[in-house]
Amino acid sequence: MSDLLLEVKNLKIGYPVWGGVLRHKVAEVRAVDGVSFCLPRGQTLGLVGESGCGKTTIAKAVVNILKATVPGVHQEGQILFHSEKGVVDLLSLSRSAMRPLRSEIQMIFQDPFSSLNPRMTVGHMIEGPLRIHTQMTKKERVQRVHWLLDRVGLQVDHAGRYPHEFSGGQRQRIGIARALAVSPKLIIADEPVSALDVSVQAQVINLLQDLQDELGLTYLFVAHDLSVVYHISDTIAVMYLGNLVEMGASEPVYRQPAHPYSRALVSAVPHPDPSKQRPDRQRLKGEIPTPLNKPSGCPFRTRCPIVQPQCADMLPPLEEKETGQLAACPYT
Ligand SMILES: Nc1ncnc2c1ncn2[C@@H]1O[C@H](COP(=O)(O)OP(=O)(O)OP(=O)(O)O)[C@@H](O)[C@H]1O
Ligand SMILES: [Mg+2]
Repeated sequence: MSDLLLEVKNLKIGYPVWGGVLRHKVAEVRAVDGVSFCLPRGQTLGLVGESGCGKTTIAKAVVNILKATVPGVHQEGQILFHSEKGVVDLLSLSRSAMRPLRSEIQMIFQDPFSSLNPRMTVGHMIEGPLRIHTQMTKKERVQRVHWLLDRVGLQVDHAGRYPHEFSGGQRQRIGIARALAVSPKLIIADEPVSALDVSVQAQVINLLQDLQDELGLTYLFVAHDLSVVYHISDTIAVMYLGNLVEMGASEPVYRQPAHPYSRALVSAVPHPDPSKQRPDRQRLKGEIPTPLNKPSGCPFRTRCPIVQPQCADMLPPLEEKETGQLAACPYT
């Protein structure tokens, strides 16, 4: 079996913009613009970047739900998943062909409040995927629910309660138990701790790490907060306006970022002691441009502190830097 679980190759995703009296496609939002990365089994890839850079779009493409939910969406490239039954290109699969793979790939969402049905007991909710994807008897399902509740740090008698009886962190634990019910290989976590208090964030991150060690899970972990991603990831990929601008082992990307955008993100991470704030702290000027009207050449050039005239003419490729990571800037 290959060491890789997921390979994303030159992924491009465009959302249609409809207009005119006949409601035809007048433009395309280039949300993801040629992204490639690999995710080895049992590892975590952290995807970071500002709001609107395309993180959720990549997450949704991997679980292959864009075709069914966004009419007219343009998808190009390959998302190769090394399943137990062989390698499949998720992008090319129809809804029905995707169904048997749903138990191998599960998603955890940002907002545990809205992703849980308020009228269902927690036990019923966690049992849901087991009813759909397995042949388990009722007794086996109940046993499994109890095992899952215990694994995520909740109590067995919580199964009979409703979501509103739980705190935010507990609700995210319920979401994690539900995702784990069918023994997935790959977990796509889209900002799973962003809605939680900082102290609770750390508990949920620790839980995800313990579960990874215990169950051999592979995570694609999406966040806009670089310090959160650094703590959980083996590899960090930094995104800007639909492109990867830097990717590599977490340590060099976080400690010695090579791309001017990653440098700005790292220097924006607050120090726990404000008097020790980095003296070289950079602030990013201006807003992230809209992907409807992307700058030519390097997408970051309109905000880049070291911009050169040539940057308008070419999209710099990812190239290896001295510190080992890949970065898409020839001037660092
Ligand atoms: N259904 C859609 N139709 C049109 N444009 C969309 C759609 N969904 C997302 N977009 C646009 O695609 C771009 C990428 O959005 P995406 O949600 O992937 O960003 P993100 O990195 O997850 O942002 P955030 O940090 O705010 O969650 C944005 O410009 C967004 O406005
Ligand atoms: Mg998002």
